[in-house]
Amino acid sequence: MTSTKSYKPIQRNLQNIHHSTSEAVLQAKPFYKRSRSNKIPQDLLGNIAILKFPRRTFWITKKLKARKFLKQNKQVTTVLEKTEKIQGRLRTAKTKHLAGIKTKQATYKENNCTFKFDVDKSYFSPRLSNERKMVADEIAKLISKAKSEKRKAKSAKSITSNILILFAGIAPYPIVIAKHLLSKKITNFKIIANELNTEAIKEAKKNIILNKLQKYITLIPGDANKLRKAKSEKRKANKIKNFDFILMPRPNLNDTFLKTALKLSKKGTTIFYHGFGTKEKVLNEIRKDTINKIGKIKIRKAGDIKPYEYRWQAQFKVK
Ligand SMILES: C[S@@+](CC[C@H](N)C(=O)[O-])C[C@H]1O[C@@H](n2cnc3c(N)ncnc32)[C@H](O)[C@@H]1O
Repeated sequence: MTSTKSYKPIQRNLQNIHHSTSEAVLQAKPFYKRSRSNKIPQDLLGNIAILKFPRRTFWITKKLKARKFLKQNKQVTTVLEKTEKIQGRLRTAKTKHLAGIKTKQATYKENNCTFKFDVDKSYFSPRLSNERKMVADEIAKLISKAKSEKRKAKSAKSITSNILILFAGIAPYPIVIAKHLLSKKITNFKIIANELNTEAIKEAKKNIILNKLQKYITLIPGDANKLRKAKSEKRKANKIKNFDFILMPRPNLNDTFLKTALKLSKKGTTIFYHGFGTKEKVLNEIRKDTINKIGKIKIRKAGDIKPYEYRWQAQFKVK
């Protein structure tokens, strides 16, 4: 049975981060580091908190801790336990109700956007909120730079930036990027978002409407690897063309999907790629699947997934 002492650090952690759920989660240490220091790992998704207990914790201990958690954190109205880790192609996890309102429906805010979704049906990580902001900012800077170069070259042609977001989930990247571009007065852009999970697509549709971004984001359900295989008329209708930016917040699976991304790119497309493990492994898989077709790779850590294993954000241009 776990000691009740282990609960205290979590309370302190939450008190510091009362105002912003996403910031709280970013500040929180990853699961494995926290479990070593005897704290209960947690994910905060607005009204829902998901706790992860050590395997042999008694049910009654979990219930008592969940109730205490609920009392001390007024913004949380439901406490769930994570019972299965993220798995499968759709990267979903399972949770069980512990305390508060019996729901799996989260209402979560980050980067001035609101998201509603069922925590069991789709992948969603609040830990990526800062990552989404950084990528949105980079895209805004690149679009502004391209515009000012056009102006200098006295080109009369107005440019629409075409952005493809693969593995879009419930649409956090498309929505955060669209809102960020609009906040920078960039309006001439189109986002195409692709996702395999039909439940995530349903939630994405609702979230796009909730954030009033229907004019800027189009959803294409299905397998990313089949995007090019659609008949040309259908492709035209779906606006699948050569993109200026391709985002790949990939699932941690073997397929790099880089060959597909290259097929959908043109000379000068900027690709943002998520890789997992060591930096060398990620650089090697990119080089292997893009052979001489890309320029210099910029790479940085974008969070940890296990001890000594990281999520990496690589950015490169197609030659
Ligand atoms: C790591 S999640 C990222 C989700 C989302 N971008 C986010 O940040 O919350 C990866 C997503 O890729 C989707 N996926 C897996 N295989 C796919 C495929 N072949 N084609 C399209 N989407 C796929 C999963 O369903 C999952 O939603």
